[in-house]
This record gives sequence, C-alpha cells and structure tokens, in this order.
Amino acid sequence: MSKQIQAIRGMNDCLPQDTPAWQYVEQILRNTVASYGYSEIRFPIVEMTELFKRSIGEVTDIVEKEMYTFNDRNGDSLTLRPEGTACCVRAGNEHGLLYNQEQRLWYTGPMFRHERPQKGRYRQFHQFGLEAFGMASADIDAEVIILSARLWQQLGLTPYVKLELNSLGSSASRAAYREALVSYLEQHKALLDEDSLRRMYSNPLRVLDSKNPALADVLAAAPQLADYLDEESKAHFTRLQQLLSRAGIAFSLNPRLVRGLDYYNKTVFEWVTTELGAQGTVCAGGRYDGLVEQLGGKATPAVGFALGLERLVLLLQSLNLLPQLAATADIYLMALGDAAELAALTVAEQLRSALPGKRIMTHCGGGNLKKQLKRADKSGAAIGLILGEDELARGEITLKWLRDDKPQQTLLITDVAAVLA
Ligand code: HAM
Repeated sequence: MSKQIQAIRGMNDCLPQDTPAWQYVEQILRNTVASYGYSEIRFPIVEMTELFKRSIGEVTDIVEKEMYTFNDRNGDSLTLRPEGTACCVRAGNEHGLLYNQEQRLWYTGPMFRHERPQKGRYRQFHQFGLEAFGMASADIDAEVIILSARLWQQLGLTPYVKLELNSLGSSASRAAYREALVSYLEQHKALLDEDSLRRMYSNPLRVLDSKNPALADVLAAAPQLADYLDEESKAHFTRLQQLLSRAGIAFSLNPRLVRGLDYYNKTVFEWVTTELGAQGTVCAGGRYDGLVEQLGGKATPAVGFALGLERLVLLLQSLNLLPQLAATADIYLMALGDAAELAALTVAEQLRSALPGKRIMTHCGGGNLKKQLKRADKSGAAIGLILGEDELARGEITLKWLRDDKPQQTLLITDVAAVLA
C-alpha cells in the first residue's frame, strides 16, 4: 500500500459532522451584519508581501515570524494573507471605494500564520471580519462593538465573553508615551527578558504585552498610556464609554491592551473568554485612521474587528450551545426491482420539483428492502418512499414513516407532493 499523505500541521479539515456547526455560526454572522447595512467584499488569499509589511508593521510577530511568504515564478514576493484588514484597505483603495465615502464591509475566509499549533490556534484559521470606513467619531466604534455584542447574544454566548477596552491615542500622543516608556525600560533593563530587550526600541508598546510572569511587576509599574493621551483622543474614548454604557454593554478598561498589529490608533478592544484555555481572544479590533493613507489612499478614518471562527465553534461546542445536528435528508426514496430502479431517479426529480426545499435522497446501488431501510435510517430522513415494480405500473408509491409509529400508505405518485407539502 502506498503511504498516505497527511494534511499540513495546523491546517485542519472541516468534516461533514462539523460543517453544520460552521454553517449555523456563519448564518448568524451574515444575518447580523446585514441587519447593520454591511456588504460583503471578497479579496484574494495571496497578496504582495509588501502589503502586510507596510500595514501590520515590520517589528511584529506576524511579519517577523509567522507569514507564509514565497517567491512567485516571476520573482515577486507573495504572502498568504495573515489577516483581512490590509487586504480590505488595498482592495478599497484600488477600486476607489474609500475616498470621501462611507463603507461598511464584511469578509470571511481562511488566514495563515505560522504559529505553534495548539487548541484554538492554527496555521490556517478562519476569520469573519468587518471594517467601517469614512467615519471618524466614536459612535461608529460603539456601533461596531454593539454589533459584536449582538452576535454573542444571538449565539447564547453573552455570559461567557468579556469586553476589554483601551485607547492608544493619536500617533503624537503615542510618540510622547513611547519616549517615557523607553526611558523607564532603560532604567529597568536588568529585569527584562531577551524578547523585551529586542523590542525595547523597535516596538516598546509590545513589551507591555509580554506574557512572561517574571516581568509582571516591572511592567505593572511602567508609565501608563492613558496619562499621555491627547485631548481629542481622551474625548473620543470618554464618548465611546458613554455610548457603550447607554447601550448596556459592560466593559473593563485594560491599559495594557496594545494589540499585535501596528496600525491601530485610539480605540482598541478584545472580547475574551476563560472557557478556551490560553487562546481566549474570540474577537478583536479597533480604529486605524492612518492605514488607508499609509497604503497609498487619501486619509480615511476606519474601525473594524475580526473574530476567529474556530474559536467561536470550539466555544459553542464546549458550552453545548450548538443546535442538534441536522439530518442530511427529509425523504429517502427506495426502489425494488429493475423497472423501479430504472424509474427511481426520474421520480425523485419529479418530487424535487413538486416539493421545493425538501431534501430528497435516492437510494443508489440496489440491494434488498432491509439494506435500503438501514440506509434510509442512517440518512436521518423522517419519510421513506418505496417504489416497487407493481406499484410503479399503477403509478403508485408506498409512504413509510421512519420515525413515527404511523401506518404506511399507498399513494399515487402524483399525490405525494400534496400529502408531504
Ligand atoms: P487579530 O487579533 O490578529 O486581529 O485576529 C483576530 C482574531 O482572529 C483573534 O482574536 C482570534 O480569534 C483569531 N485568530 C488569530 N490568529 C489565530 C490563529 N492562529 N488560530 C486561530 N484563530 C486565530 C486581526 O487580524 C485584525 N485584522 C482585526 C481587525 C479588523 N482590526 C480591525 N479590523
């Protein structure tokens, strides 16, 4: 036997028993974003590497260590998208969707990051994201967060997720803060680990994000960004908090929340759960007013988020919040004898036309009644239709209730639709 080829580590198949859960979640996401006036945008899975370097930032884990980058046959450096925001802005700029306009856009699909796989963290994972362009005030930040809260409510997750909020301020206020932070870190250099020392000058805010418990004390005493916010950012943040409170959305302020991508300013937020172990961030986002211009467009304010679909499905599974698995068929059509087998596919077509929306599965491959009934049972169908040679000659079919204790009936094939509609 030849050796089987396995899937790539961290890249998962979604098996038929799991797809109903995904479809259930995706349907709720699509319906919810539609109810806020969002339109879908689709962009390629592969982009120029430069796009992600310029948007996510050169000194970030994603760009430094996690991108799937390769040279195209003509020598261009291409990258499998590690996230959607940069792609969405690139597409928006390229097609003139952003300048002087308001856009509410959503997308979904696979993203790729070469991280160490574990529960809730994969190398190919799926995001559902949205981006709102052209609106600078805090009301749209609030609306985006209220929308995400509605998703949790629809999925039954409200008690299990918590909102963390921070403001990174303007780039000027961040520059002033950065200076203060670097000088503080310099004073405590001896206590820092290798990663933090490396980041101290290139990306000092990310040092605050360190998960190393040995650094907890020194980082807790570090200067706080909130003390350096400019007046406009402070007012924006205060307004956002008022709007969320008015909408009844609980949040906690987390001054250490800086996010792993460089494009953010002002609002950043994460929805976290304690039910998933280490990979507890289900949804994350914020404002990125500089990115459109940074990628060659005209200055356009923007805010958005993305959620991890694997994490959402895992969370729903672990909390038992998924609806029962749907059967694959409503009606299972069996045929006994050559003439009936010959007619079965055509009868099934007539029934599909007469019963739109019903899932009709035809037994293929012959066999006796016992075998066919066994397959009918496995399909989950509630109704079995049995076509026999004699019945066929009379234009009749037998209806057998597979889940109910009701007597079987003989019907004219032309009457089946009326009985089962
Ligand atoms: P992010 O925080 O890098 O943000 O990713 C968003 C979400 O994607 C995470 O909260 C998590 O649920 C999921 N995720 C990320 N990496 C993995 C992984 N390796 N395996 C499984 N799930 C993962 C962004 O990507 C931004 N583009 C979000 C955004 C949109 N900001 C503004 N607009």
